[in-house]
Amino acid sequence: MERRDFIKTGLITTVAPTLLLANIETIKRARNPIVISTWKHGVKANEEAMKVLFSKGSALDAVEAGVKISEADPTIQSVGIGGRPDKDGHVTLDACIMDSQGNAGSVAYLQDIKHPVSVARKVMELTDHVMLVGQGAKSFAITHGFKEENLLTEESRKAWLKWKMKQGKKDELGPNDDHDTISLLAQDSVGNLSGACTTSGLAYKISGRVGDSPIIGAGLYVDNEIGAAGATGRGEEVIKTTGSFLVVELMRQGYTPQDACREALGRIIRRHGGNPGFQVAYIALRKDGEIGAAAIRKGFKYALSSENENKLHSVKGIIN
Ligand code: GLY
Repeated sequence: MERRDFIKTGLITTVAPTLLLANIETIKRARNPIVISTWKHGVKANEEAMKVLFSKGSALDAVEAGVKISEADPTIQSVGIGGRPDKDGHVTLDACIMDSQGNAGSVAYLQDIKHPVSVARKVMELTDHVMLVGQGAKSFAITHGFKEENLLTEESRKAWLKWKMKQGKKDELGPNDDHDTISLLAQDSVGNLSGACTTSGLAYKISGRVGDSPIIGAGLYVDNEIGAAGATGRGEEVIKTTGSFLVVELMRQGYTPQDACREALGRIIRRHGGNPGFQVAYIALRKDGEIGAAAIRKGFKYALSSENENKLHSVKGIIN
């Protein structure tokens, strides 16, 4: 849908009220579920989210179910169990979730709990707060039945020890290896949008560091009238530009999802003299089902599921 058509749809209130109601009903019935998420591990996450959507579940249930697949997979070293630890060897997790009503929940610096996204959802649904951090978030999780468990797998522990031995020398992790956060956006069969974002954050970060992923408007933003956006990559840069909120606001102004992602990245690129040495990528899902994805550097992939397809797509970097 072009900008003009999208704006035209937005101006549908000029139509007679009965016709408007009929149109909304038609649009609601016609929706095909759609899920988009970051990185290769998004494929399995999308599959799970689609199962929820195909059985007429909500976008909110779908995004939680989807990212929980990545959180539970010990081979994914950037999310949940098996995530790379901080410099002191502690796995600390950040996550958030946002629904179609503008409700949001978030946890940061959470330790020993495998599913931070579900704790974030509990914060959203059971409290009048948005964000819990550290020990407070953990106590809240345990109070609500979450099991305490060791999240540092042997593989991640060995990699961390190797990194410690090499400290000060060349970092073996490339720009695409150290922040493979999963952001997942979904639209359900009645057209509602939701999103979730979860990560173990920057590998070998300073103890206490929190990235963009649990920050509403940075790692994730959902506006059910316009669209949703999610981020991955160097969290500090996403926070400084309120990245996901920016992508959604650009879509509100009429940018296509693709151009909105590119413009949000352009602001980061310009701040770094045109050639940042790190990766940031955005995905976006507009209310009419059109998607966008863009990355600063090559190597970023996103998974897109709609109808019977679930495919991984490569993104050409803006600067290489
Ligand atoms: N984008 C994940 C992080 O920087 O922590």
